[in-house]
Amino acid sequence: MISENVFIASNYAISIHEGSFQWSAPSNIALVKYWGKKDKQIPANPSISFTLNNCKTITKMGFAKKENDGNFSFDLLFEGKPKEDFKPKIQKFFERIFDYCPYLTAFHFTIDTENTFPHSSGIASSASGMAALAMNVMSLERELNPSMNDEYFYKKASFLSRLGSGSACRSVKGEVVVWGNHAEISGSSDLFGVEFPSNVHENFKSYQDTILLVDKGEKQVSSTVGHDLMFGHPFAEQRFEQAHENLSKMKTVLENGDVENFIKIVESEALTLHAMMMTSMPYFILMKPNTLEIINKIWKFRNETQIPVCFTLDAGANVHVLYPQNVKEKVLQFIKSELVGYCQNGQYICDEIGIGAQSI
Ligand code: DP6
Repeated sequence: MISENVFIASNYAISIHEGSFQWSAPSNIALVKYWGKKDKQIPANPSISFTLNNCKTITKMGFAKKENDGNFSFDLLFEGKPKEDFKPKIQKFFERIFDYCPYLTAFHFTIDTENTFPHSSGIASSASGMAALAMNVMSLERELNPSMNDEYFYKKASFLSRLGSGSACRSVKGEVVVWGNHAEISGSSDLFGVEFPSNVHENFKSYQDTILLVDKGEKQVSSTVGHDLMFGHPFAEQRFEQAHENLSKMKTVLENGDVENFIKIVESEALTLHAMMMTSMPYFILMKPNTLEIINKIWKFRNETQIPVCFTLDAGANVHVLYPQNVKEKVLQFIKSELVGYCQNGQYICDEIGIGAQSI
Protein backbone atom coordinates (compact mmCIF):
# COMPACT_ATOMS: atom_id res chain seq x y z
CA MET A 1 0.00 0.00 0.00
CA ILE A 2 1.28 3.47 -0.89
CA SER A 3 1.94 5.78 2.06
CA GLU A 4 1.13 9.46 1.76
CA ASN A 5 4.78 10.20 2.56
CA VAL A 6 5.70 9.46 -1.06
CA PHE A 7 3.90 12.68 -1.96
CA ILE A 8 6.09 14.93 0.20
CA ALA A 9 8.22 17.01 -2.18
CA SER A 10 11.88 17.53 -1.33
CA ASN A 11 13.19 21.02 -0.73
CA TYR A 12 14.01 21.72 -4.35
CA ALA A 13 16.28 24.61 -5.22
CA ILE A 14 14.02 27.26 -6.76
CA SER A 15 15.55 27.48 -10.20
CA ILE A 16 12.70 29.24 -12.03
CA HIS A 17 11.58 32.83 -11.65
CA GLU A 18 8.27 33.20 -13.38
CA GLY A 19 5.93 31.60 -15.85
CA SER A 20 2.43 30.25 -16.18
CA PHE A 21 0.48 27.08 -16.82
CA GLN A 22 -3.08 26.44 -17.88
CA TRP A 23 -5.18 23.34 -17.35
CA SER A 24 -8.77 22.31 -17.83
CA ALA A 25 -10.35 19.67 -15.58
CA PRO A 26 -13.82 18.19 -15.96
CA SER A 27 -16.59 17.47 -13.53
CA ASN A 28 -17.48 13.82 -12.89
CA ILE A 29 -20.63 11.91 -12.05
CA ALA A 30 -20.51 9.15 -9.44
CA LEU A 31 -22.20 5.81 -10.14
CA VAL A 32 -21.44 4.47 -6.66
CA LYS A 33 -21.47 7.47 -4.35
CA TYR A 34 -18.98 8.88 -1.84
CA TRP A 35 -20.96 10.04 1.18
CA GLY A 36 -19.19 10.12 4.52
CA LYS A 37 -15.52 10.72 5.24
CA LYS A 38 -12.90 10.31 7.90
CA ASP A 39 -10.21 12.73 8.92
CA LYS A 40 -8.03 14.25 6.14
CA GLN A 41 -10.48 13.63 3.32
CA ILE A 42 -10.31 9.84 3.60
CA PRO A 43 -13.56 8.39 2.19
CA ALA A 44 -15.74 6.19 4.38
CA ASN A 45 -16.41 3.98 1.34
CA PRO A 46 -15.05 3.55 -2.18
CA SER A 47 -16.78 5.23 -5.13
CA ILE A 48 -16.66 5.06 -8.93
CA SER A 49 -17.50 7.71 -11.51
CA PHE A 50 -17.71 8.57 -15.18
CA THR A 51 -15.47 11.49 -16.05
CA LEU A 52 -17.39 14.18 -17.94
CA ASN A 53 -16.23 16.02 -21.03
CA ASN A 54 -18.00 19.37 -21.43
CA CYS A 55 -18.56 20.61 -17.87
CA LYS A 56 -15.08 21.88 -17.07
CA THR A 57 -13.11 24.42 -15.12
CA ILE A 58 -10.26 26.15 -16.96
CA THR A 59 -7.59 27.59 -14.69
CA LYS A 60 -4.51 29.58 -15.57
CA MET A 61 -1.88 29.88 -12.88
CA GLY A 62 0.84 32.49 -13.22
CA PHE A 63 3.73 32.31 -10.78
CA ALA A 64 6.55 34.68 -9.80
CA LYS A 65 9.33 33.91 -7.35
CA LYS A 66 9.12 35.85 -4.10
CA GLU A 67 10.93 35.92 -0.79
CA ASN A 68 10.00 32.74 1.05
CA ASP A 69 8.55 34.22 4.23
CA GLY A 70 6.40 31.16 4.95
CA ASN A 71 3.18 32.83 3.78
CA PHE A 72 0.94 32.05 0.84
CA SER A 73 0.52 34.88 -1.60
CA PHE A 74 -1.96 34.84 -4.46
CA ASP A 75 -4.51 36.84 -6.44
CA LEU A 76 -7.70 35.14 -7.46
CA LEU A 77 -9.62 36.07 -10.60
CA PHE A 78 -12.90 34.58 -11.80
CA GLU A 79 -13.48 35.14 -15.52
CA GLY A 80 -10.72 37.75 -15.45
CA LYS A 81 -12.12 39.79 -12.55
CA PRO A 82 -10.95 39.74 -8.91
CA LYS A 83 -13.15 37.45 -6.81
CA GLU A 84 -12.47 37.89 -3.13
CA ASP A 85 -15.09 35.38 -1.92
CA PHE A 86 -13.26 32.47 -3.61
CA LYS A 87 -10.00 33.27 -1.82
CA PRO A 88 -10.64 31.47 1.51
CA LYS A 89 -11.20 28.18 -0.38
CA ILE A 90 -7.87 28.51 -2.16
CA GLN A 91 -6.10 29.56 1.04
CA LYS A 92 -7.50 26.45 2.77
CA PHE A 93 -6.43 24.27 -0.16
CA PHE A 94 -2.87 25.63 -0.01
CA GLU A 95 -2.77 25.04 3.75
CA ARG A 96 -3.95 21.45 3.31
CA ILE A 97 -1.39 20.62 0.63
CA PHE A 98 1.54 22.60 2.07
CA ASP A 99 3.13 19.58 3.80
CA TYR A 100 3.37 17.94 0.36
CA CYS A 101 4.24 21.09 -1.62
CA PRO A 102 6.56 23.20 0.58
CA TYR A 103 7.67 25.23 -2.46
CA LEU A 104 4.28 27.01 -2.55
CA THR A 105 5.42 29.81 -0.23
CA ALA A 106 8.34 30.64 -2.54
CA PHE A 107 6.00 32.09 -5.20
CA HIS A 108 3.30 34.66 -5.71
CA PHE A 109 0.47 33.20 -7.79
CA THR A 110 -2.13 34.74 -10.06
CA ILE A 111 -4.95 32.27 -10.44
CA ASP A 112 -7.51 32.98 -13.16
CA THR A 113 -10.37 30.54 -13.37
CA GLU A 114 -13.58 30.05 -15.35
CA ASN A 115 -16.20 27.35 -15.84
CA THR A 116 -17.71 26.16 -19.12
CA PHE A 117 -21.05 25.59 -17.42
CA PRO A 118 -23.32 28.46 -16.35
CA HIS A 119 -22.47 30.18 -13.10
CA SER A 120 -24.64 29.01 -10.16
CA SER A 121 -26.21 26.26 -12.25
CA GLY A 122 -26.22 24.03 -9.20
CA ILE A 123 -23.43 21.99 -10.82
CA ALA A 124 -20.70 21.60 -8.26
CA SER A 125 -17.56 23.31 -9.49
CA SER A 126 -15.48 22.08 -6.56
CA ALA A 127 -14.45 18.82 -8.28
CA SER A 128 -13.40 20.42 -11.58
CA GLY A 129 -12.03 23.54 -9.84
CA MET A 130 -9.83 21.75 -7.34
CA ALA A 131 -8.59 19.29 -9.98
CA ALA A 132 -7.67 22.11 -12.40
CA LEU A 133 -5.76 23.91 -9.64
CA ALA A 134 -3.95 20.74 -8.55
CA MET A 135 -2.83 20.10 -12.15
CA ASN A 136 -1.25 23.57 -12.28
CA VAL A 137 0.50 23.02 -8.94
CA MET A 138 1.90 19.74 -10.27
CA SER A 139 3.12 21.43 -13.46
CA LEU A 140 5.06 23.82 -11.24
CA GLU A 141 6.44 20.93 -9.19
CA ARG A 142 7.56 19.20 -12.37
CA GLU A 143 9.48 22.33 -13.38
CA LEU A 144 11.29 22.13 -10.05
CA ASN A 145 11.83 18.38 -10.40
CA PRO A 146 12.09 17.57 -14.12
CA SER A 147 12.87 13.91 -13.49
CA MET A 148 9.28 13.29 -12.29
CA ASN A 149 7.52 10.61 -14.34
CA ASP A 150 3.95 10.82 -15.64
CA GLU A 151 2.62 8.19 -13.27
CA TYR A 152 3.75 10.14 -10.21
CA PHE A 153 2.57 13.42 -11.76
CA TYR A 154 -1.02 12.21 -12.18
CA LYS A 155 -1.14 10.25 -8.92
CA LYS A 156 0.01 13.21 -6.88
CA ALA A 157 -2.32 15.53 -8.83
CA SER A 158 -5.23 13.30 -7.82
CA PHE A 159 -3.92 13.11 -4.24
CA LEU A 160 -3.75 16.92 -4.00
CA SER A 161 -7.18 17.31 -5.63
CA ARG A 162 -8.64 15.02 -2.99
CA LEU A 163 -7.33 17.27 -0.24
CA GLY A 164 -9.24 20.12 -1.89
CA SER A 165 -12.50 18.24 -2.44
CA GLY A 166 -12.91 14.47 -2.19
CA SER A 167 -14.67 13.87 -5.49
CA ALA A 168 -12.11 16.09 -7.29
CA CYS A 169 -9.59 13.23 -7.19
CA ARG A 170 -11.83 11.41 -9.71
CA SER A 171 -11.54 14.31 -12.23
CA VAL A 172 -7.84 13.98 -13.06
CA LYS A 173 -7.29 11.06 -15.43
CA GLY A 174 -9.30 8.31 -17.06
CA GLU A 175 -12.83 7.74 -18.35
CA VAL A 176 -13.96 5.65 -15.41
CA VAL A 177 -12.29 6.31 -12.07
CA VAL A 178 -12.33 4.49 -8.73
CA TRP A 179 -11.45 6.22 -5.48
CA GLY A 180 -11.16 4.31 -2.22
CA ASN A 181 -9.73 0.96 -1.21
CA HIS A 182 -11.69 -1.92 -2.65
CA ALA A 183 -10.68 -5.56 -2.42
CA GLU A 184 -11.41 -6.32 -6.09
CA ILE A 185 -9.97 -3.19 -7.73
CA SER A 186 -6.23 -3.55 -8.02
CA GLY A 187 -4.28 -0.41 -7.17
CA SER A 188 -7.31 1.27 -5.58
CA SER A 189 -6.51 3.65 -2.76
CA ASP A 190 -8.17 5.96 -0.25
CA LEU A 191 -5.50 8.54 -1.13
CA PHE A 192 -6.20 9.14 -4.83
CA GLY A 193 -8.35 8.08 -7.76
CA VAL A 194 -7.22 5.33 -10.17
CA GLU A 195 -8.41 4.51 -13.67
CA PHE A 196 -10.79 1.56 -13.63
CA PRO A 197 -8.27 -1.21 -14.27
CA SER A 198 -10.35 -3.59 -16.46
CA ASN A 199 -11.59 -3.06 -20.00
CA VAL A 200 -14.87 -1.16 -20.12
CA HIS A 201 -17.44 -2.91 -22.34
CA GLU A 202 -18.44 -1.30 -25.66
CA ASN A 203 -21.93 -0.57 -24.25
CA PHE A 204 -20.48 2.00 -21.88
CA LYS A 205 -18.15 3.72 -24.33
CA SER A 206 -19.22 7.31 -25.07
CA TYR A 207 -22.02 7.08 -22.49
CA GLN A 208 -24.13 10.24 -22.44
CA ASP A 209 -25.05 12.41 -19.44
CA THR A 210 -27.67 15.10 -19.97
CA ILE A 211 -27.87 17.26 -16.86
CA LEU A 212 -31.32 18.69 -16.21
CA LEU A 213 -31.04 21.91 -14.21
CA VAL A 214 -34.01 21.66 -11.88
CA ASP A 215 -32.93 24.09 -9.22
CA LYS A 216 -30.06 26.48 -9.53
CA GLY A 217 -30.39 28.00 -6.09
CA GLU A 218 -27.90 27.83 -3.27
CA LYS A 219 -27.98 24.39 -1.63
CA GLN A 220 -29.60 24.37 1.79
CA VAL A 221 -26.95 21.94 3.12
CA SER A 222 -23.37 21.76 1.79
CA SER A 223 -21.74 18.43 0.91
CA THR A 224 -19.24 18.95 3.72
CA VAL A 225 -22.02 19.19 6.31
CA GLY A 226 -23.77 16.21 4.70
CA HIS A 227 -20.63 14.05 4.92
CA ASP A 228 -20.31 14.94 8.61
CA LEU A 229 -23.84 13.79 9.29
CA MET A 230 -22.77 10.25 8.39
CA PHE A 231 -20.98 10.22 11.77
CA GLY A 232 -23.33 8.49 14.15
CA HIS A 233 -25.87 7.98 11.36
CA PRO A 234 -28.09 4.99 12.23
CA PHE A 235 -27.52 3.30 8.85
CA ALA A 236 -23.90 4.34 8.23
CA GLU A 237 -22.23 0.95 8.62
CA GLN A 238 -24.74 -0.85 6.39
CA ARG A 239 -24.45 1.92 3.83
CA PHE A 240 -20.63 1.73 3.69
CA GLU A 241 -20.83 -2.05 3.33
CA GLN A 242 -23.44 -1.70 0.57
CA ALA A 243 -21.15 0.68 -1.35
CA HIS A 244 -18.43 -2.01 -1.36
CA GLU A 245 -20.95 -4.56 -2.64
CA ASN A 246 -22.31 -2.19 -5.29
CA LEU A 247 -18.80 -1.46 -6.50
CA SER A 248 -18.15 -5.21 -6.89
CA LYS A 249 -21.38 -5.51 -8.90
CA MET A 250 -20.55 -2.40 -10.93
CA LYS A 251 -17.13 -3.83 -11.80
CA THR A 252 -18.77 -6.93 -13.30
CA VAL A 253 -21.39 -4.84 -15.10
CA LEU A 254 -18.82 -2.50 -16.67
CA GLU A 255 -16.83 -5.51 -17.84
CA ASN A 256 -19.70 -7.53 -19.30
CA GLY A 257 -21.90 -4.69 -20.62
CA ASP A 258 -25.00 -5.56 -18.58
CA VAL A 259 -26.94 -2.30 -19.01
CA GLU A 260 -29.98 -3.61 -17.10
CA ASN A 261 -28.01 -4.16 -13.92
CA PHE A 262 -26.09 -0.93 -14.48
CA ILE A 263 -29.41 0.90 -14.27
CA LYS A 264 -30.39 -0.89 -11.06
CA ILE A 265 -27.15 -0.06 -9.28
CA VAL A 266 -26.99 3.56 -10.46
CA GLU A 267 -30.58 4.46 -9.56
CA SER A 268 -30.40 2.63 -6.24
CA GLU A 269 -27.18 4.49 -5.35
CA ALA A 270 -28.79 7.85 -6.18
CA LEU A 271 -31.84 7.16 -4.05
CA THR A 272 -29.73 5.71 -1.23
CA LEU A 273 -27.62 8.88 -1.17
CA HIS A 274 -30.78 10.94 -0.71
CA ALA A 275 -32.19 8.43 1.77
CA MET A 276 -29.07 8.99 3.90
CA MET A 277 -29.83 12.71 3.89
CA MET A 278 -33.46 12.16 4.81
CA THR A 279 -32.54 9.85 7.70
CA SER A 280 -29.69 11.87 9.24
CA MET A 281 -30.14 14.12 12.25
CA PRO A 282 -30.81 16.86 11.39
CA TYR A 283 -32.63 15.48 8.32
CA PHE A 284 -32.95 17.32 5.05
CA ILE A 285 -34.30 16.92 1.52
CA LEU A 286 -32.39 18.18 -1.50
CA MET A 287 -34.79 16.84 -4.14
CA LYS A 288 -37.45 19.19 -5.43
CA PRO A 289 -40.93 18.23 -6.66
CA ASN A 290 -39.65 18.48 -10.25
CA THR A 291 -36.82 16.05 -9.46
CA LEU A 292 -39.47 13.43 -8.63
CA GLU A 293 -41.59 14.32 -11.65
CA ILE A 294 -38.56 13.72 -13.89
CA ILE A 295 -37.71 10.40 -12.21
CA ASN A 296 -41.26 9.15 -12.75
CA LYS A 297 -41.24 10.26 -16.39
CA ILE A 298 -37.93 8.45 -16.97
CA TRP A 299 -39.34 5.24 -15.46
CA LYS A 300 -42.47 5.49 -17.60
CA PHE A 301 -40.48 6.16 -20.77
CA ARG A 302 -38.13 3.26 -20.04
CA ASN A 303 -41.03 0.88 -19.42
CA GLU A 304 -42.83 1.88 -22.57
CA THR A 305 -39.87 1.99 -24.96
CA GLN A 306 -37.36 -0.42 -23.39
CA ILE A 307 -34.72 2.25 -24.09
CA PRO A 308 -32.04 1.88 -21.38
CA VAL A 309 -32.09 5.37 -19.94
CA CYS A 310 -31.66 5.98 -16.21
CA PHE A 311 -31.07 8.79 -13.76
CA THR A 312 -28.63 9.65 -11.04
CA LEU A 313 -28.47 12.53 -8.57
CA ASP A 314 -25.72 14.40 -6.79
CA ALA A 315 -26.18 16.27 -3.55
CA GLY A 316 -28.79 18.54 -5.11
CA ALA A 317 -32.03 18.67 -7.09
CA ASN A 318 -30.57 18.40 -10.61
CA VAL A 319 -31.03 15.14 -12.49
CA HIS A 320 -28.29 13.46 -14.53
CA VAL A 321 -29.86 11.41 -17.32
CA LEU A 322 -27.52 8.59 -18.37
CA TYR A 323 -27.87 6.60 -21.60
CA PRO A 324 -25.82 4.90 -24.34
CA GLN A 325 -24.78 6.91 -27.38
CA ASN A 326 -26.79 4.77 -29.83
CA VAL A 327 -30.10 5.97 -28.36
CA LYS A 328 -29.04 9.61 -28.15
CA GLU A 329 -31.50 10.97 -30.72
CA LYS A 330 -34.51 9.27 -29.16
CA VAL A 331 -33.59 10.24 -25.61
CA LEU A 332 -32.92 13.87 -26.54
CA GLN A 333 -36.29 13.94 -28.27
CA PHE A 334 -37.89 12.61 -25.07
CA ILE A 335 -36.01 15.14 -22.94
CA LYS A 336 -37.08 18.03 -25.16
CA SER A 337 -40.71 17.02 -25.34
CA GLU A 338 -41.29 15.73 -21.79
CA LEU A 339 -38.60 16.85 -19.34
CA VAL A 340 -37.50 20.35 -20.30
CA GLY A 341 -40.66 21.78 -18.75
CA TYR A 342 -39.42 20.68 -15.32
CA CYS A 343 -36.07 22.46 -15.69
CA GLN A 344 -35.49 25.96 -14.39
CA ASN A 345 -35.75 28.27 -17.42
CA GLY A 346 -35.81 25.11 -19.56
CA GLN A 347 -32.07 24.66 -19.06
CA TYR A 348 -30.12 21.46 -19.53
CA ILE A 349 -26.53 20.57 -20.46
CA CYS A 350 -25.49 17.77 -22.81
CA ASP A 351 -22.37 15.99 -21.67
CA GLU A 352 -20.69 12.63 -22.18
CA ILE A 353 -17.77 10.57 -20.93
CA GLY A 354 -14.42 12.32 -21.23
CA ILE A 355 -10.82 11.49 -20.44
CA GLY A 356 -9.80 13.90 -17.68
CA ALA A 357 -7.66 16.98 -17.22
CA GLN A 358 -5.87 18.55 -20.19
CA SER A 359 -2.98 20.95 -20.43
CA ILE A 360 -3.87 23.95 -22.60
C1 DP6 B 1 -22.84 13.49 -3.51
O1 DP6 B 1 -16.51 15.82 -3.03
O2 DP6 B 1 -18.22 17.66 -2.86
O3 DP6 B 1 -21.32 14.25 -5.16
O4 DP6 B 1 -14.94 16.12 -0.02
O5 DP6 B 1 -16.43 17.65 1.26
O6 DP6 B 1 -15.51 18.38 -0.95
P1 DP6 B 1 -15.98 17.22 -0.10
O7 DP6 B 1 -17.28 16.63 -0.77
P2 DP6 B 1 -17.65 16.41 -2.30
O8 DP6 B 1 -18.82 15.32 -2.15
C2 DP6 B 1 -19.45 14.83 -3.28
C3 DP6 B 1 -20.51 13.89 -2.91
C4 DP6 B 1 -21.42 13.42 -4.01
C5 DP6 B 1 -21.13 11.97 -4.39
C6 DP6 B 1 -19.91 11.70 -5.20
O9 DP6 B 1 -19.53 12.52 -6.05
O10 DP6 B 1 -19.35 10.61 -5.03
